[in-house]
Amino acid sequence: MDSTMSRVCVVGLGYVGLPTAVLLAMSGRQIVGVDTNPHVLEALASGRALLREPGLAALTAQAVASGRMVGSSQPEPADAFIVAVPTPVRGLAHKRADLTFVASAVEAVARVLRPGNLVILESTSPPGTTEHMVGPILERGSGLHTGCDFLLCHCPERVLPGQVLNEIVNNARIIGGIDRASAEAAQDLYSSFVRGKIVLTDATTAELVKLMENIHRDVNIALANELALVAEHVGVNIWEAIELANHHPRVQVLRPGPGVGGHCIAVDPWFMVGAAPRFTPLVAASRAVNDGMPLHVVDLVESMLGGLAGRRVVILGLTYKAGVDDTRESPSAVVIEHLRRAGAHVSAHDAVVAMEIPLDTLADGADCLVLLVDHQAYAHLDPSVIAARMRRKVLVDARGFFDVEAWTEAGFEVARLGDGRQYEPRPQLDRQSAQLDRQSAQLDRQSA
Ligand SMILES: NC(=O)c1ccc[n+]([C@@H]2O[C@H](COP(=O)([O-])OP(=O)(O)OC[C@H]3O[C@@H](n4cnc5c(N)ncnc54)[C@H](O)[C@@H]3O)[C@@H](O)[C@H]2O)c1
Repeated sequence: MDSTMSRVCVVGLGYVGLPTAVLLAMSGRQIVGVDTNPHVLEALASGRALLREPGLAALTAQAVASGRMVGSSQPEPADAFIVAVPTPVRGLAHKRADLTFVASAVEAVARVLRPGNLVILESTSPPGTTEHMVGPILERGSGLHTGCDFLLCHCPERVLPGQVLNEIVNNARIIGGIDRASAEAAQDLYSSFVRGKIVLTDATTAELVKLMENIHRDVNIALANELALVAEHVGVNIWEAIELANHHPRVQVLRPGPGVGGHCIAVDPWFMVGAAPRFTPLVAASRAVNDGMPLHVVDLVESMLGGLAGRRVVILGLTYKAGVDDTRESPSAVVIEHLRRAGAHVSAHDAVVAMEIPLDTLADGADCLVLLVDHQAYAHLDPSVIAARMRRKVLVDARGFFDVEAWTEAGFEVARLGDGRQYEPRPQLDRQSAQLDRQSAQLDRQSA
């Protein structure tokens, strides 16, 4: 162990900070875990973790019992500080990074900063935040100078909820220093528990790389969603079309769905748009496409039911994706809100988040089931059992998940997102095509 960093203060004990803190404690360091939420500190004092994450409860109990991890509401003097507080977005149409949590956490660190300390920002942040915001706040609060007196880094996190401990240890890790000495000091610290490759760069590159990773996902999901809308429009089944396109050795179209949620992919692209609005039309358009999908699902439900007022709708899936219990920024919340606003009676079930009412009770007298999250447990639903409970038998599948034949046989009218074959030929489309033909014939005549 690097003896110069035996005491580490981790500020923000959420999905990222707590696992990092307990792993550092288990590597033999003395950890002060800081959080502004008293419930987090109460739980920690009794060796408990509030977050449900495989392995985390046991490791937290061990770290606290060993005496190497204590909680505090304020940063305390230490050799290294890791800041892992939330970085949400605010605003409606044009969302911007809300860096108020980072600013107040870093101000608190500045009050106890000493020469030779290392400060690491783990929170996902717009490019330049570490160098141009965190550094100056630390300097103002401590009277010390970045680089000369203290070391400063950005080390982004790429963990998947449900796999956090495994991924924190095994994923490759990018460490961006404001100088080489800072990056190398952080590498010493992380190499005590990271087994994945550690790659060093500068702080702003590390910030951009983290955003690029999530933007890559968001843009590709938006492409799949846009193609699903096109498929509905031209009468093609997108699920079949994607499978066929992916036979191309260099093509990998993702799966469409009811929108993008979670704390990262639906949020981080806005940090890039905010940093360079003139150069990010594709990133902004992808956000708009993905944000439009929950409303498209509402439209599908409405067209299947011939209206929403008074209809009873059961939502399957509340989390932002399958297999996790995290509901942050979930498209399901938007779908539910719009269905309710239109007068539907909505109840919801989730196979992973503990629910009080079982699904068959919810299905009693319902008109429509809407699958929004493809939790594996839903694969075992028996359509005929559910059908027997329902008033009307309509299924809207926004994930291309269910076996359409089995549900149809059980008496359901099924609509799958992106499956244009389920509609009658569209007179509107025919009219549009005829109009386009007339326009292009006219252009041909003009140019001849
Ligand atoms: N959760 C993930 O899977 C994930 C993955 C990659 C990156 N990130 C990024 O990591 C950062 C943290 O995310 P998270 O999911 O751990 O958040 P979280 O909401 O789970 O936890 C953040 C914790 O910080 C505490 N906090 C807020 N302000 C504070 C302050 N001033 N001082 C001390 N504690 C404070 C909160 O009470 C909370 O317990 C965010 O920037 C996020 O985008 C998260």
